[in-house]
Amino acid sequence: MTETVDYDALIPNNVGLADDPKLQRALEKWHPGYLDWWNSMGPEGFQMADVYLRTAVSVEKEGWAKFDYVKMPEYRWGILLAPAVEERAIPCGEHVGEPAWMEVPGAYRAMLRRLIVIQGDTEPASVEQQRHLGSVSPSLYDMRNLFQVNVEEGRHLWAMVYLLQKYFGRDGRDEAHELLERQSGSEEKPRMLGAFNEETPDWLSFFMFTYFTDRDGKMQLEALAHSGFDPLSRTCRFMLAEEAHHMFVGYTGVKRIVQRTAEAMTSAGIEDPYDIEAVRALGVIDLPAIQRKTNLHFSLTLDLFGSEESTNAANYFNAGVKGRYHEDKLQDDHQLRNDTYPVMKLVDGELQLVEVPALNALNARLRDDFIEDCRGGISRWNREISSHGIDFEITMPHVAFNREVGEFADLSISPAGRVVDAPTFEAKTSTWLPTSEDRAYIEELMQPQFEPGEFAGWIAPPQRGIQNKTPNFLYVKLP
Ligand SMILES: [Fe+2]
Ligand SMILES: [Fe+2]
Repeated sequence: MTETVDYDALIPNNVGLADDPKLQRALEKWHPGYLDWWNSMGPEGFQMADVYLRTAVSVEKEGWAKFDYVKMPEYRWGILLAPAVEERAIPCGEHVGEPAWMEVPGAYRAMLRRLIVIQGDTEPASVEQQRHLGSVSPSLYDMRNLFQVNVEEGRHLWAMVYLLQKYFGRDGRDEAHELLERQSGSEEKPRMLGAFNEETPDWLSFFMFTYFTDRDGKMQLEALAHSGFDPLSRTCRFMLAEEAHHMFVGYTGVKRIVQRTAEAMTSAGIEDPYDIEAVRALGVIDLPAIQRKTNLHFSLTLDLFGSEESTNAANYFNAGVKGRYHEDKLQDDHQLRNDTYPVMKLVDGELQLVEVPALNALNARLRDDFIEDCRGGISRWNREISSHGIDFEITMPHVAFNREVGEFADLSISPAGRVVDAPTFEAKTSTWLPTSEDRAYIEELMQPQFEPGEFAGWIAPPQRGIQNKTPNFLYVKLP
């Protein structure tokens, strides 16, 4: 298998596609359907714009991407695997230490297929969710970042489709086809996971989505990067390089919104963050509304980790097809035969940690790792707020708040983690979750700002631009 990237091929790749005519035919057959999907479900209204995008052209740590103006339908979606690790071994489960698989082991075929399909399904879903946002971009800089995320999610779909087509025969081809058939929010053929059928109605939602939900993607990819099935591991390792930018977009996006709100409040002499009317009169997003969006996107994202205790998750780990976050850095036997793990549960009307067999608690564990990973950015948002002398802190709600999957599904738990009765929850919903007024107000703010270097009034300009460009660089040339 060649490691260098054949960038001139119809489908840029470093998987030796030119030497595998059967796979090449299968992918070339899928390609027009993909383009149809992109043109009909991708960014609406900007397909002919020239966007300053990065394209992956290598898999080396340095210089893996090049930047240039591209019309999105002409983006060079490629199939790129991170470099092979010599003599890589299966990192966990009953085969720990055995050589990693280069082909799909028959016994684990169904499992692997399912994991790849679920991951693959999320990639086009987010593009669909975000397709209306371009026309209300707060700046060309932000518009470019949105489209960057979108084309890379498209590439991630290619990555999963490659695995399906190469290793799963006819089933794989059928699944690849289905990935273009399901649609976010559709009644008949929705996307597979709940959060990927929700709307992304505005830019605050987009930034929250890329901060929280793309981070779920990161955690899943981190776990799959430790798969004993080597092609999956290499695919996911390269996807992670791109994913970092998506979370950067979310983190800086929320930070710039918070900054703008705090600045506007300070210069207007408003000290009370709950004086909603006064804050909204300034044309910025009040901090309590940002907290409610945080509550919503955080809880929706937690549902993506599945049930806390799961025999499927145990089977994946035992088989060695999916590892844990940082599996290679963990100091244990990587089999978890006799270990336990504390899982939060409702016991006798109270939330408490209960030790359960660690093998069954892998979803809970990955979710806990995710929550830890969320902290840094949130505390920097809060530092931004306090640096303006405003007394307000954005917090992650309790893990049991507003959940629909697992242990806490349909329980009434406050964001602070108090067990409440259903009527109390009902009465408090408008302070805990985004309201229709929030939505209407934020929607009103979503006016396009397409002048280079100009930014909508509710968001601060970024500290710097993309790839050493200034924030007023012409990131998108509108047709
Ligand atoms: Fe992705
Ligand atoms: Fe992403």
